[in-house]
Amino acid sequence: MKFFIDTANLQQIMEAQELGILDGVTTNPSLMAKEGIKGDANIKKHYVDICNIVKGGDISAEVIATDFDGIVREGEVLAALHKQIVVKVPMIKDGIKAIKYFSSKGIKTNCTLVFNAGQALLAAKAGATYVSPFLGRLDDISSDGLLLIEQIVHIYRQYNLPTQVLAASIRHTMHLIKCAEIGADVATCPLNVITGLLKHPLTDAGLAQFLADHAKLNG
Ligand code: G3P
Repeated sequence: MKFFIDTANLQQIMEAQELGILDGVTTNPSLMAKEGIKGDANIKKHYVDICNIVKGGDISAEVIATDFDGIVREGEVLAALHKQIVVKVPMIKDGIKAIKYFSSKGIKTNCTLVFNAGQALLAAKAGATYVSPFLGRLDDISSDGLLLIEQIVHIYRQYNLPTQVLAASIRHTMHLIKCAEIGADVATCPLNVITGLLKHPLTDAGLAQFLADHAKLNG
């Protein structure tokens, strides 16, 4: 399973990159706003900065337009910024049309805001590179987000659909581990979820003991 980081924070992207396990980045307008990135030129520069940190990884950059012409116009500009850019398109009717168009032009896409299997099926039919089901937001409303990931993985495998399942809106380490068990292609999560995988009290206790025993004999 590929690990993407879900942030527009350059420090956090660098930290995950330095860990050596980062395969890509997802951003969205809310994450860009959280970092205070505003204005067309700054937003574009920020995407390029991210691409330059995560060499070779796919970087999702989301369109703001919601009509076909606008999505295509914005998406083509974003895709031209850097070869690592993946155009992130919302799951709406004109979004599906635009994904089909981008797919015919060889532009990678990430279909976002997916909340059921029917939407995921449509995204795959249109030729999306990635589909982003938001599992945490489903859990928030007492729906089973992991069950949706499982359902989409099953449907795609059944028909050998090449669209990659990118589990998004991941809130904690168990979400991440369960996504790996289910067979999601990618999980995108905040840095604290990725680094949360490092933690185990027995690791800490064991290491402390090893170091103490070594120090007893070696000073
Ligand atoms: O990639 C989508 C993700 O950012 C949504 O996460 O935590 O806002 O539901 P969240």
